Amino acid sequence: MSFNIAIDGPAGAGKSTIAKLAAKELSFIYVDTGAMYRTIALGLLRDSVDIENEAELLAALDKIEVGIRYVDQEQHVYLNGEDVSPLIRTEQVSDMTSRSSANPQVRAKLTALQRDLAARENVIMDGRDIGTEILPNAELKIFLTASVETRAQRRYLEQAAKGGSYTQEEIEQDIRERDYRDSHRETAPLRQAEDAILIDSSDMTIEEVVQEILRLASLHKL
Ligand code: DC
Repeated sequence: MSFNIAIDGPAGAGKSTIAKLAAKELSFIYVDTGAMYRTIALGLLRDSVDIENEAELLAALDKIEVGIRYVDQEQHVYLNGEDVSPLIRTEQVSDMTSRSSANPQVRAKLTALQRDLAARENVIMDGRDIGTEILPNAELKIFLTASVETRAQRRYLEQAAKGGSYTQEEIEQDIRERDYRDSHRETAPLRQAEDAILIDSSDMTIEEVVQEILRLASLHKL
């Protein structure tokens, strides 16, 4: 039996950084489900698919194959066999991901892949609907959040360090829009599972959040 930790929460709460560190400490596999949705979005962008056109979207999805592999314990995502991991973090892909991931067909395409991984391995899986839809029986569920201002500032510093040119206000606006879309869509909206533990990281360091997750995990027999 595998041990599964689900971490859900809004964009910029620090899920991936924290989940990666905690996974390393626990020798678990870190599964970034956002990267899988981003891979599909990149495929849709490349083919200039009109995602409001259901028939066009379905035809495009049929031709998109998402793969996931671990190289030196790092997750790599593949679009029809091509490693697209370095190409999926642009604002354009983020925007398309937020819109296309609301579609039930897009979500259905990834559900089995995510559940299979969790059934085979001890995983820390992060996303929006992991505790509610994908792994409702996960041994530990965390809902990780932070204030919009804190998340915008983190994203701003991250992209500024990479030479990005968005202002903090623009990023904050984008985060508000994405939060709204992620939590108001019909299929698998972002929400805290009833049995998830809420962690607000606004005034916590990364290390403090990681330690809290390790402490919670240690309460279970690993
Ligand atoms: O975590 P992230 O920023 O890489 O996620 C990108 C987008 O994908 C975000 O708008 C929400 C969506 N997403 C989702 O709908 N379900 C998931 N399990 C993971 C991400």
